[in-house]
Amino acid sequence: MKVRKIEDSDIDPNTNFSDNKSSFRYLCLSNDLTVGTSRKFSIRDERDKEIEIAVFNINGKYYAISNKCQHQGGPLSEGILDIEKKIVTCPWHGWKYSVIDGRAPHKGGDSVNSYEIKMVEDKLYVDSIPNNIGKRVTQPLSILYFG
Ligand code: FES
Repeated sequence: MKVRKIEDSDIDPNTNFSDNKSSFRYLCLSNDLTVGTSRKFSIRDERDKEIEIAVFNINGKYYAISNKCQHQGGPLSEGILDIEKKIVTCPWHGWKYSVIDGRAPHKGGDSVNSYEIKMVEDKLYVDSIPNNIGKRVTQPLSILYFG
């Protein structure tokens, strides 16, 4: 996931990122999420369903994935963050996800949704439409492929 700082000239004056015409939702001021920390946000998606997003600040870059672990719904915003590898470990039972794209870092692992973050001036917005859909894998790869 790329984080791009939007210059004033890039902003369509008809776009208000926090209104219902855009799929982007306002999160917070960028200073509210300090380097090396994460935070949970509740936003409404395109169908007006509430979803929880975990947002991470790694060295000034922002990443967003679903806050709910695929195992039993553990809060990934409270997980242990490996800043070097950009991997979060669920605080409940240790499942791991890349904060870049929500994918498990190992073969056959489950993934969670990931979302694009935009920074406009000093404000953070998240796209309520995932840019990568996390897939639930219920069986090891060997069973799926070799039955
Ligand atoms: S709920 Fe996340 S590892 Fe179990």
